[in-house]
Amino acid sequence: MAAIFPKSSDLIIKISGLVIGLGAVATVSAYAYFSYPAVIDTGYQPVQPVPYSHKLHAGQLGLDCYYCHFTVYKAAFAAVPPTQTCMNCHAKVKDTSPRLQLVRDSFSGGQSIPWVHIHRLPDYVYFNHEAHVTAGVSCVSCHGRIDQEIEVHQEKPLNMAFCLDCHKDPAPNIRPPELVTKLDWVPDRDPRAIGEEIIREKHISPPVQCSGCHR
Ligand code: HEC
Ligand code: HEC
Ligand code: HEC
Ligand code: HEC
Ligand code: HEC
Repeated sequence: MAAIFPKSSDLIIKISGLVIGLGAVATVSAYAYFSYPAVIDTGYQPVQPVPYSHKLHAGQLGLDCYYCHFTVYKAAFAAVPPTQTCMNCHAKVKDTSPRLQLVRDSFSGGQSIPWVHIHRLPDYVYFNHEAHVTAGVSCVSCHGRIDQEIEVHQEKPLNMAFCLDCHKDPAPNIRPPELVTKLDWVPDRDPRAIGEEIIREKHISPPVQCSGCHR
């Protein structure tokens, strides 16, 4: 990652320059240029400090994504939960399990669990979770079936072509916002028709111009 995208201010300046320079006229050609099937970190799956399983907690126990990722619908970033959220249950459930030792240490010591971040955009890209989930884009569109994963891995490329493909035609990926965390939701009719109705009603129009994502 670092090798492909050095997070230097130098690169950010170059890209801002490019974005301003090319402007709207270049939208089509730049899109064509960047739409090669680049794969950035797809499949990246680090070993986590605690053997936490989404398949168990979100899948089998049925905990809503918002229970732990509670900033998602009201902030630009998602954030992993603080240890307190785990202790809501694990103060009593499996409270002597060695697999939860680090969680207990973190809670009593006050230092956070060193979770390894998986999804990460380069600094020169602006992204906002709230804008997506309130418009009705489900977590599953960008993260896949997390509720079936024991260990989280990056499933979608999250590159520019991936973003633009949806921004140009969001309808099939728009659902009623209250269903965005229901990853197994199956529409009862044509998903595009459902999406088009919501798009009309809420005037949804994702940015396709460069400055929408490179600010
Ligand atoms: C009980 C709490 C809990 C629930 C419920 C939960 N998560 Fe998580 N999530 C975590 C923790 C802890 C991590 C960090 C460790 C890891 O990656 O497994 C995480 C990591 C993630 C990541 C990767 C973050 C990164 O570093 O890029 C994504 C994406 C994610 N969760 C999505 C979801 C989705 C979607 C749901 C609902 C289906 C969900 N989570 C439900 C606790 C939770
Ligand atoms: C439109 C695509 C998209 C949708 C929809 C989406 N995410 Fe993300 N998510 C991303 C991207 C891109 C990143 C990396 C963000 C960055 O680096 O700034 C990310 C990062 C995360 C992280 C890691 C954040 C951190 O602080 O390390 C978590 C957790 C997460 N998403 C959970 C969710 C949950 C839960 C939902 C549904 C309620 C969701 N996401 C919906 C694209 C999306
Ligand atoms: C709503 C309650 C609840 C919350 C919140 C919760 N868990 Fe759990 N967790 C459980 C249950 C129930 C089990 C399964 C216990 C069993 O197997 O009998 C479990 C099992 C586990 C296990 C496996 C323990 C073992 O010995 O096999 C780990 C590790 C774990 N959770 C980590 C976490 C972490 C980390 C968090 C916070 C991000 C968290 N849990 C939040 C209820 C919860
Ligand atoms: C599956 C569809 C989908 C994907 C994938 C997607 N977006 Fe979006 N995006 C949307 C929708 C829908 C909106 C909301 C537009 C509205 O409300 O008018 C949006 C809005 C935005 C906005 C405007 C937010 C604001 O606050 O003004 C930005 C910036 C953005 N997306 C960046 C990205 C980036 C970067 C990626 C790729 C990492 C991405 N999007 C991937 C559908 C998507
Ligand atoms: C919907 C969001 C979005 C829009 C609109 C967008 N980009 Fe991007 N752009 C991204 C993302 C995400 C990345 C980082 C991942 C990648 O390389 O594909 C990126 C990366 C780039 C890069 C670095 C690529 C590399 O290989 O180093 C350049 C240059 C760039 N964009 C220019 C543009 C220009 C010019 C436009 C307008 C024609 C534009 N972008 C419009 C999301 C967007």
